Amino acid sequence: MKPLTIISAVAMVAAVACTKAPKEPVSIIPQPAEITVNDGYFKIAGAPVCIAENVPEEAVKAINDFENQLALVSGKKAVVGNTPVQKGITFMFNGNVGPEDYALNVTKDGVTVEASAFSGFFYAIQTMKQMLPVEIYGSAKAKGDWSIPFVSIMDSPRFAYRGLLLDCCRHFFPVEEVKKVLDLMAIHKMNRLHWHLTEDQGWRIEIKKYPKLTEIGAYRNGTQIFRRNETDGKRYGGFYTQEQLRDVVAYAAERGITIIPEVDLPGHMVAALASYPELGCTGGPYEVMQRWGVMPDVLCVGKEETFTFLEDVLTEVMDIFPSEYINIGGDECPKIRWKECPRCQARIKKLGLKDTKEFSKEHYLQNYVTARIQKFINDHGRKIIGWDEILEGELAPGATVMSWRGTKGGIKAVEKGFDVVMSPNTYCYIDYYQTKERDKEPYRIGKYLPIEVVYGYEPMEGMPENGEDHIYGVQANLWAEFLPTIADMEYMLLPRMSAISEVEWSPKGSKDFDRFRTSLDHMKGIYETLGFVYCKALWGQIGLPGHEIPARTPEELDTLDWKKVPFMEE
Ligand code: ACM
Ligand code: ZN
Repeated sequence: MKPLTIISAVAMVAAVACTKAPKEPVSIIPQPAEITVNDGYFKIAGAPVCIAENVPEEAVKAINDFENQLALVSGKKAVVGNTPVQKGITFMFNGNVGPEDYALNVTKDGVTVEASAFSGFFYAIQTMKQMLPVEIYGSAKAKGDWSIPFVSIMDSPRFAYRGLLLDCCRHFFPVEEVKKVLDLMAIHKMNRLHWHLTEDQGWRIEIKKYPKLTEIGAYRNGTQIFRRNETDGKRYGGFYTQEQLRDVVAYAAERGITIIPEVDLPGHMVAALASYPELGCTGGPYEVMQRWGVMPDVLCVGKEETFTFLEDVLTEVMDIFPSEYINIGGDECPKIRWKECPRCQARIKKLGLKDTKEFSKEHYLQNYVTARIQKFINDHGRKIIGWDEILEGELAPGATVMSWRGTKGGIKAVEKGFDVVMSPNTYCYIDYYQTKERDKEPYRIGKYLPIEVVYGYEPMEGMPENGEDHIYGVQANLWAEFLPTIADMEYMLLPRMSAISEVEWSPKGSKDFDRFRTSLDHMKGIYETLGFVYCKALWGQIGLPGHEIPARTPEELDTLDWKKVPFMEE
């Protein structure tokens, strides 16, 4: 870190020399690890750019993209080269910092950016863009003060895994929209998209060896209306081709984002069973689910054919997605069919599994499935991650646990020495209502999670001392049962995604809701420039105009069980 310290000192001296007052507060989300703002501004539009020789190639592309964008909106083209510049922008390699770290110094003499890898340079650019007028995100020439304040920033993420889950199964979002979400993630320095691609209500990933998964499994004959015992009867669905998926993987990589696909097993598999009924305990018939919830029909794991199927599917999945981790789900797998299935019971007998005080032998059968799939994935050079149910019974070393049923699964996993990603529903389920005025909101899943609560999440709370060593990261989950349109999805995502980005990135103890709230005024301009729908509750407007607000019956309200929800109505 030494060279960075020297540059910071130079920046401070230079800044003191200039007395121009800042025009407005510096609004950067997520808040950088260390930032000093000094008086004065440097005009960057048209300033010459030097990219030092050893800056990585992908970073050179990102820098050129930024310069082209700046030229487009400002109308001033800069000279970009690798010779030293005066009063310009210099990008330098610094091998002493981590791959996602960067130092950004702005003085009257110009801008210097130091990083060691693509991500660091890319994040420095994101920070610079947030210090410019929001029109930098636009697609046309705009009037603006294309200067950035004198700052000295040394930035580094708190967590390595900074995730967002997008559920494209309950409702299907096209590739172009997924790319827009990736753009937003990049702005927020988030680096893992957990893509939920298989479900009871729809299978969304083309698997060449099993074409019926998308011919049959990608479509349902209706969608449940609110929580009622009826569906709309309209055929609904869609899927991504392997070509589209590879394109999205590359698009994400250009933004420092790894896509982690989820193939949820052995539960949440009814769309696969509808396509290949022989994979179930009863043999069906099954149909792609039209209603939400946890389904009794799961994969029959007494049959070898089921493992052949899973291995074939995962082989194609691993070929499309180069991620270190593959998410194998593992949540909400009822054991009722296994208890009655002669094949599953024969497997239990053969394996010598027994009930214990804590868990049934069928739970241990799920452990067997997890361990067997884990070995297969490990043998292909990858690792597994799964929901906290995989911890019930026995979990083989090397698995990573995603804590969703509150924080206790994560705490238990850490106590047992596993790495965890924390996505507790109590803080990270951004499919929950974000205002208390539910009667003014489109119908959502029945809990309340305002932005203040999301922002206030401290992942170390309740963790053992060594927790931070095992907390690989944090993730917000956007489930899509009640998000029938792109507008509904974006409305739930924003602005809570901005809040989670500070939980994921900013140093422990650095959060300050008032500062964040002020920064959101600038971020809101970015949402608008990029054409996103967002929840305006913080700006005094509740609801999503033009979207249906159901008249709820008392029966529906009862089903929602509001009273049991934490943070409610206190
Ligand atoms: C989950 O929300 N079922 C992981
Ligand atoms: Zn079975």
